[in-house]
Amino acid sequence: MGCFSCFIPLRKDVSKVEIDNGTRSSGSGRGKASFKDGENGRWKGKGGNGPKNSAACSFTFRELAVATRGFKEVNLIGEGGFGRVYKGRLETGQVVAIKQLNHDGLQGFQEFVVEVLMLSLLHHSNLVTLIGYCTDGDQRLLVYEYMPMGSLEDHLFDVEDDKEPLDWDTRIKIAVGAARGIEYLHCKANPPVIYRDLKSANILLDNEFNPKLSDFGLAKLGPVGDNTHVSTRVMGTYGYCAPEYAMSGKLTLKSDIYSFGVVLLELITGRKAIDMTKRPGEQNLVCWSRPIFKDRRKFVHLVDPLLQGRVPVRCLHHAIAITAMCLQEQPTFRPLISDIVVALEYLASQSYKRERYKDEVPSNPSASPLRENRNVCSRKSDHRMSSLSI
Ligand SMILES: Nc1ncnc2c1ncn2[C@@H]1O[C@H](COP(=O)(O)OP(=O)(O)OP(=O)(O)O)[C@@H](O)[C@H]1O
Ligand SMILES: [Mg+2]
Repeated sequence: MGCFSCFIPLRKDVSKVEIDNGTRSSGSGRGKASFKDGENGRWKGKGGNGPKNSAACSFTFRELAVATRGFKEVNLIGEGGFGRVYKGRLETGQVVAIKQLNHDGLQGFQEFVVEVLMLSLLHHSNLVTLIGYCTDGDQRLLVYEYMPMGSLEDHLFDVEDDKEPLDWDTRIKIAVGAARGIEYLHCKANPPVIYRDLKSANILLDNEFNPKLSDFGLAKLGPVGDNTHVSTRVMGTYGYCAPEYAMSGKLTLKSDIYSFGVVLLELITGRKAIDMTKRPGEQNLVCWSRPIFKDRRKFVHLVDPLLQGRVPVRCLHHAIAITAMCLQEQPTFRPLISDIVVALEYLASQSYKRERYKDEVPSNPSASPLRENRNVCSRKSDHRMSSLSI
């Protein structure tokens, strides 16, 4: 995965966090981490429907070594910029994912602190749960709930022949859940939190393909009062970062909306945000897609071939409209996440009701790729969507 700072792709093993005003205390003491809710409910995630009062536990390195059987290679389930991720089983029997920081410098340590702080304070069913952490000596490990289906990236790209590709309904379900996670960060956390690292690799999936956002090491407190943005060094992942943030370092909630648009586009197309194996002109997914957004007749070219045409056309059009709005160059034109949630929930409700589509899907998708079912969108729902139409 290409990460970047100031548009320069970095090595995978280079951590990519930058912290200034986001960090207040380390939370690295033994026992239960405790973070006081400030005045007026500040820093208390309101309205979350995830586990309540679930303070992260402190583990010894020995406990985590036992859980992973000595960090055996066979238990390795992934590796990212932060370090290696192992599957493990705690003494209690709970299966967990354990992320071990590689010792590549200060940035990873800072990312660790932000991650523990953020996930100790923010709780929602669409955010991954941090069970605990380890700060023995110079060891830094994070212990998460185990997400059996891995990341969205694993299911969208380079799908092996024997693996079932994600169907349309599941893609919309994942989009809705991810949007709800962002809505919680933007609208219910106080002060709001800018996630800053939204990408398919950071959307983890449970057995029912319910998505949970992970990796909060780059998250920042959003602007408060009359401020419209926070200024930061540009950090994030190449291909997902909003252009104005990349240019100016001015971070707003709308930066996350752009990244969300890129994820939506990946869900629709099955293409990676950046894919250097593609021919020039197709390597950057957003650049490739923009001209297609302008011509409805070409929308079919965007659809992931693995869907084999099993897509309700009208829902597809709405999904592309939402995506295009999220990807507006001008951040103020991008929708609020709460509007996106409403629009996507509407699409999901249509999906579940559409047994009738099954008869309408062409048996040979290449001959007649997508047909429209005019009964799909009710008048009322069309009206609701209109604020998000392009
Ligand atoms: N809680 C978890 N449950 C199950 N698998 C996980 C969990 N957390 C991470 N993984 C697996 O480990 C992989 C690596 O995750 P990690 O967050 O370290 O890196 P990344 O997000 O792919 O990249 P980067 O951190 O460099 O941006 C994921 O793709 C996923 O397959
Ligand atoms: Mg990740």
